Amino acid sequence: MHYGYVRALDSIDIEVHQGEVLGLLGDNGAGKSTLLKVMSGVHQPTSGEIRVHGETSTFASPADSTHAGIQMVYQDLALVDAQDIATNLNLGREILRKGPLGWLGFVDHRAQRRRSTDELAKLGVRTAAMTRPVEMLSGGQRQVVALARGATRVNGEKSGILLLDEPTAALGYEQTQQVQSLIRSLAEQGVACILVTHNLPLAMTVCDRIAVLNRGRKVADVPVAETDNDQLVGWITGARPSMFG
Ligand SMILES: Nc1ncnc2c1ncn2[C@@H]1O[C@H](COP(=O)(O)OP(=O)(O)OP(=O)(O)O)[C@@H](O)[C@H]1O
Ligand SMILES: [Mg+2]
Repeated sequence: MHYGYVRALDSIDIEVHQGEVLGLLGDNGAGKSTLLKVMSGVHQPTSGEIRVHGETSTFASPADSTHAGIQMVYQDLALVDAQDIATNLNLGREILRKGPLGWLGFVDHRAQRRRSTDELAKLGVRTAAMTRPVEMLSGGQRQVVALARGATRVNGEKSGILLLDEPTAALGYEQTQQVQSLIRSLAEQGVACILVTHNLPLAMTVCDRIAVLNRGRKVADVPVAETDNDQLVGWITGARPSMFG
């Protein structure tokens, strides 16, 4: 993936399986967000291909990737500030009710709040009240809403793929624990998850496998059980040579 003359990703080959959590590590500017944006159709790769369940797929837009079962939670959140939590959770899949003349067209806010409350309870996620406008939430609370939105959309979809770009960056202790168990429970239900994070202990706790990017190249790809903190730091900083020569 090139941005003009900047080569953000260089010959990356990466895969994630159903029920697996893949950690994607790397320093600032290593290419992590770019990789997720290519996988979710935000950017079109300069060359290369994406396969979903073995089928070559081209994503002209995020809507295309959503159609293929891919949900991305962005680093730069993408919530509608002026709307409440329930409305944000239901963006793009609004529940409509019949208007006075039998026309469809009114968003059924009460039904949306009920559905979202149920979905969050199932996922074990707690947010502020559903009617709270997102602009009144703290950074961490917003992050939980953004993550919950992605999670409710892949939950129960056996072939769902969830891409998380630093979902815990702004979170306190308890919320980080919640996110951690949320990711694990989605994986247990068969969701494939890619987790970008700078939090090494979190990555080592929640991931099955870890890939490290360094200046746009993949320098490591290992099961968590076969690596440790020092090795990972070495690959992230470049002090440790690439596994791939
Ligand atoms: N829209 C863009 N236009 C031009 N260059 C970009 C754009 N987005 C990212 N880049 C460049 O691509 C490279 C990779 O950036 P990317 O955002 O993928 O890094 P990252 O690994 O997500 O970093 P961070 O941990 O800071 O979020 C950087 O050199 C960055 O400057
Ligand atoms: Mg990033």
